[in-house]
Amino acid sequence: MQVLGIMGSPRRGSNTELLLDSALSGAESLGAETVKIVVSEMDIRPCMELYHCALDGTCSIRDDMQQLYGPLATADCVVLASPIFFYGLTSQAKALIDRCQALWVRRHVLKSWVPDDSIRKGALIAVGATGGPRLFDGVIQTSTYFFDAIGVRYADELLVRGVDGKAQVRDFPRLLDEAVELGSRLVSGAPSIHRTS
Ligand SMILES: Cc1cc2nc3c(=O)[nH]c(=O)nc-3n(C[C@H](O)[C@H](O)[C@H](O)COP(=O)(O)O)c2cc1C
Repeated sequence: MQVLGIMGSPRRGSNTELLLDSALSGAESLGAETVKIVVSEMDIRPCMELYHCALDGTCSIRDDMQQLYGPLATADCVVLASPIFFYGLTSQAKALIDRCQALWVRRHVLKSWVPDDSIRKGALIAVGATGGPRLFDGVIQTSTYFFDAIGVRYADELLVRGVDGKAQVRDFPRLLDEAVELGSRLVSGAPSIHRTS
């Protein structure tokens, strides 16, 4: 079982990364292999709408995204972790997601790739400073369609409100425990949520 973690915060060692690391440790505790990618430290440029992917499902932009298409298409579980920036994902995470248009084309237009999303699972970890009821609407919507594009089922989520300062989530060990449990659930196959839209 391989779990791919996408660390979408530009702030290293802070809330998003601590929660993601906890989730990955929960997965590892049940024997999963984990890989964490730190998006802000990679060269992942925004989609330029060149539509090369419409021809054959590959992106013509030569940057670090090229090395991610394989893991995104084959990992058993994908955990997307991001802080809330203006009620959305970070621009770093969003750039990676937009570049997954190539996988969306393979799956839905060319139909050259048929992932088994009844087996592959995706989870969202999001953390924001405020507490509004609609804080996560945007990231849930984007993640739903991201997971669809890469052929995983939206299976689980951890949505954290009221955490702002650097690594402040350490003050709430219960949240880190919840992230560990999320990682374990992904690997163990325990019941989880299923978003369809
Ligand atoms: C550019 C920017 C925009 C932000 N926008 C929001 C927001 O819309 N809502 C919110 O609750 N928090 C917002 N925040 C706060 C972060 O979500 C919060 O500090 C989070 O804990 C950061 O996670 P990190 O430490 O892992 O990067 C924003 C922070 C920044 C830097």
